[in-house]
Amino acid sequence: MTFVTLEGPDGAGKSTLSVGIKRELESMGFSVVALREPGSTPVGERVRAILLDPAVGALDPMTEALLFSACRSELVRTAIRPALAAGSIVLLDRYFDSTMAYQGAGGGADPGALEALALAATGGLIPDLTLVVDVSPNVSARRRLTSPDRMEAKDHAYRARVRESFLSLPNRRPGRAIVLNGESDREALVAESVAEIIKRIPRVIP
Ligand code: TMP
Repeated sequence: MTFVTLEGPDGAGKSTLSVGIKRELESMGFSVVALREPGSTPVGERVRAILLDPAVGALDPMTEALLFSACRSELVRTAIRPALAAGSIVLLDRYFDSTMAYQGAGGGADPGALEALALAATGGLIPDLTLVVDVSPNVSARRRLTSPDRMEAKDHAYRARVRESFLSLPNRRPGRAIVLNGESDREALVAESVAEIIKRIPRVIP
């Protein structure tokens, strides 16, 4: 029914926000399917483990993009499209905007090639709403785990380019993307997110 993605730098608090949004929407009677990328399918979780394993070391950004996109293709076809068709709200933690931010802006992969890849992986499925949860680099660093995974271990300049890419999303995708302050009160963040989602739910005419 309605497709919502959550985006933002590492440590922004997307996963906690997703739990709060799901709970609130379900209490209003909506069916909500919460998923994450990479992951949420058997193959996606296994590829996630490879992508985040520090022992894998440096990868070319296009190699990374292909691996993330393989997870995305599987998830779109086996979980997201069926859930949308069944009338659920799909709440997805990261989608192709993350590939544009991390592998594109951060890693330097060609944006045109990444867009073509996004189209192939998703079959053109675009979110109705993208909530960009932003936090300052200091808060992001504090919230990241003490033992960073392979993606969290990227340097400061890389992470700054990633954040800039996310912050520019509302300009690049007006109407679809909005930025939320991930440092504000959790209840307020849930309420603001739910209000934006409700606006995008198609009305049933009695
Ligand atoms: P998560 O920590 O939000 O679950 O995401 C896993 C990591 O993978 C995070 O550091 C962001 C990164 N990532 C990309 O670099 N490209 C992508 O396309 C996606 C979906 C995630």
